[in-house]
Amino acid sequence: MDGARVPVLVIGTGYGGSVAALRLAEAGVDVHMIEMGMAWDTPGSDGKIFANTTSPDVRSYWLRTKTKQPISNFLGFPLDKNVPRHTGILDAEEFGGITVYQGRGVGGGSLVNGGMAVTPKRENFSFVLPSVDAAEMYATYYPRANAGLGVNTIDPAWFETAECYQYARVGRKHAQRSGFPFVFVPDVYDWDYMKREAAGTATKSALAGEILYGNNHGKKSLQQTYLARAKATGRVTISPLHKVTSVTPAAGGGYTVTIDQINTSGDTVTTKAMTADKVFFAAGSVGTSKLLVKLRATGALPGLNGEVGKGWGDNGNVMCGRANHLWDPTGALQSAIPTAGIDNWAAGGAFAEVAPLPTGIETYASFYLSITKNPNRAEFSWNAAAGRAELNWQTAWKQPSIDAAKTIFDKINAKEGTIYRTDLFGVYKIWGDHLTYHPLGGAVLGKATDNYGRLHGHPGLYVIDGALIPGNTTVNPFVTITALAERNIEKIISTDL
Ligand code: FDA
Repeated sequence: MDGARVPVLVIGTGYGGSVAALRLAEAGVDVHMIEMGMAWDTPGSDGKIFANTTSPDVRSYWLRTKTKQPISNFLGFPLDKNVPRHTGILDAEEFGGITVYQGRGVGGGSLVNGGMAVTPKRENFSFVLPSVDAAEMYATYYPRANAGLGVNTIDPAWFETAECYQYARVGRKHAQRSGFPFVFVPDVYDWDYMKREAAGTATKSALAGEILYGNNHGKKSLQQTYLARAKATGRVTISPLHKVTSVTPAAGGGYTVTIDQINTSGDTVTTKAMTADKVFFAAGSVGTSKLLVKLRATGALPGLNGEVGKGWGDNGNVMCGRANHLWDPTGALQSAIPTAGIDNWAAGGAFAEVAPLPTGIETYASFYLSITKNPNRAEFSWNAAAGRAELNWQTAWKQPSIDAAKTIFDKINAKEGTIYRTDLFGVYKIWGDHLTYHPLGGAVLGKATDNYGRLHGHPGLYVIDGALIPGNTTVNPFVTITALAERNIEKIISTDL
């Protein structure tokens, strides 16, 4: 690959990158995808590709020597442990005021996420993507994305009796008794497979606590959907453990892309260069933003405009737990795949996932990840002295998210006579306000790019991932990232190729 010239190079293999690769390949274009994470196609010594949440190991974290579990404590005891430094699957990337969790490997975030596949309510769409025509998104691109991702919904009858969703039924009871709308949430996990897990006729994955570090069965990650179809065209090549460090105009037209090949300790083994007629930035909101602010500041891409790096949001993520009464057990067996949410967006600016705590023991805890209407937006910038991109998010900027989440949980606690858990994020700390699973923005549609993701200032460069979305999707983001990518790549194929 060193020295090669390709028609299209895609940086990253998450949702945006996979949609671009599939649709370009179907249009007859050869595509080379560069992915800094591993391929995740080979079992480890235990015969499994992915590690379990209850026992993180060398596969679990991206280049850390200590795990950084989103729930850091239990009953006051710290949970994190030392692990060898390895190109593991989950990156807990630490900026000054926030830890941003991201998937690393072929399939990006689809490898680690809970698969909750939520289309925003249409009445909220103008808040999500103000410059995009809602009618065509809901008629064409959301349905296309849902079909491509293999989204399906739980059998409501099975939900009522499944032992592994007792925690969700308790969540529903409490939500409804306080007057909140309770909604089922679609997922890319195969619910029929989960039924077989529960019946003891299939190898357990969601019912064995697998989530965050990959699912060995049941979940349709991009490896099973878009990327499988892309590879089947014969036009898509993927290079794992390769990290793009630079993109700059090439002398004879197109762009020179500089790529570090790394080993599983994260060290650079060799540096390669490729030339591409067109380059798609699909490194995720953080990856794309970091690359672009560096390339603008160092003069590699001097035409990028002042909007690059701006408009970054955390999708208003905040976590909390509630301590239930002893007559409200949430179950020792909890499916790791969430299936329900409490929708208080219109009244309180919060959509709360009823999330599992798959510890294998009865905890009497209800656990929630809330997506909230947090107005704060941060900016990436290049610190030349330190040689790294920085993000100016402040921890205190989570306060609007906490306030929004409290519109739900203060009311439920008052109604049920219950209290918040204070042992999950430290000692006497209620709110998990130090993190996000849903980074969005940094190269916002219609600002850093035109209305289809073409970067201003450099023809032939595109952004096609979560960096395009201005900070909040009102629900979990990957269906919207996928649908927007479907919309943009269709336009780009019809006009730019
Ligand atoms: P994505 O992050 O998927 O892919 C980017 C890829 O680029 C990565 O594979 C990365 O390694 C690679 N890359 C970065 N820099 C590079 C470089 N310089 N060179 C080469 N490669 C590079 N969403 C949802 O809708 N429902 C859910 O249930 C959840 N749950 C959830 C749980 C957890 C733990 C996490 C971390 C995230 C979620 N999400 C989620 C969020 C969802 O996974 C996320 O929004 C998408 O994966 C983002 O898709 P993108 O295409 O933007 O990038």
